[in-house]
Amino acid sequence: MKLLGSVQSIHHFIILHGLVVLLFAYQYKAQSPGASSSSASSLNALLQDYAYRALVRPHTGVIYPGNVPSNLTGIGIAAVRLRSGSLRRKGIIFNEFEIPTGLIVQPYVRRLVLVYHNLGNWSSFYYPLPGYTYLTPVLGLLAYDATNLSATNLPELSMVVSESFISINFTNATHVLSGTDARCVWFDVNGSPDFQQLVSINTCSTYRLGHFSIVVNSSEIAPSPVPSLPPGPVPSPGGSKSSNSKAWKIAGGVVGGLVALAALTLIVYYIRQRKNKKVAQLEQHADAGVSLQTARVGNTQIPVASGTRTLPVLENELVA
Ligand SMILES: *[C@@H]1O[C@H](CO)[C@@H](O)[C@H](O)[C@H]1NC(C)=O
Ligand SMILES: *[C@@H]1O[C@H](CO)[C@@H](O)[C@H](O)[C@H]1NC(C)=O
Ligand SMILES: *[C@@H]1O[C@H](CO)[C@@H](O)[C@H](O)[C@H]1NC(C)=O
Repeated sequence: MKLLGSVQSIHHFIILHGLVVLLFAYQYKAQSPGASSSSASSLNALLQDYAYRALVRPHTGVIYPGNVPSNLTGIGIAAVRLRSGSLRRKGIIFNEFEIPTGLIVQPYVRRLVLVYHNLGNWSSFYYPLPGYTYLTPVLGLLAYDATNLSATNLPELSMVVSESFISINFTNATHVLSGTDARCVWFDVNGSPDFQQLVSINTCSTYRLGHFSIVVNSSEIAPSPVPSLPPGPVPSPGGSKSSNSKAWKIAGGVVGGLVALAALTLIVYYIRQRKNKKVAQLEQHADAGVSLQTARVGNTQIPVASGTRTLPVLENELVA
């Protein structure tokens, strides 16, 4: 019985070990597709391509809305072609972005295209920000050379403001609660965040191009341990690009693995307990076969012979 028990527990251990290895392999697989640090910049390249497709013999200074491929439904894009000189002299209002006069593009190009992104429900997929909740969609404004309107993989131009800042008016951010620590966040073309104060309840300002949103520390709007859903974008398991969120995923995987290990251990323990109970019962029955049964007489237990031993019935039958 003892030997059988230890063989079984080795068996259980092997099964358990196999399951844990499988679980870790699954966790690793689950986090690998979104962990690319280039997802935000490859999205920029794709959206540049699709925004340029809207510019078919474009009029200078006219905003052309574009179409995104169906696998990115929910993202809005638009493009406008401008002469660098007129942009510097006149500025432009491009959806939520208000570009003041005096803006200079670097490196210098004669004509440029401004590409606008509204990432909508894809905001936290492409720009995950652990610990923060988006109060507005992530909006992007990027500049490219307009020399060749069928070019792809163009490098982003940078901008220098010489007079006043670009302002971003998040018209649909009126639900930002006063008293909360809402902040502007800016992402560079590689997706690295930088935080700034709001100019007003729904306005951010910037001297750079890139992606922008208004965020709040998630603990301020979700004091309970179960976080409430953010108003628009829902965090997705994929699309990670910051090393911070990667670390969180690895930590999550380890914790998940440990929880699963504990659960499996409990299950195996339970099965073994049940088996042991059964074995104990069997042993008790076997013992009962060789030991004397007891009967209660008055206040004392006395041993009595088991009825099955002497088979009195047979004698009675012989007598009868
Ligand atoms: C979406 O589709 C386009 C064209 O069909 C493709 O080039 C692109 O890689 C896809 N993007 C994603 C994120 O799946
Ligand atoms: C965003 O919404 C569209 C439908 O409006 C859907 O097809 C798409 O999968 C959503 N994106 C995310 C990341 O949930
Ligand atoms: C959010 O606020 C809590 C409590 O004030 C703080 O401990 C936490 O570090 C903040 N999170 C972030 C991402 O700033």
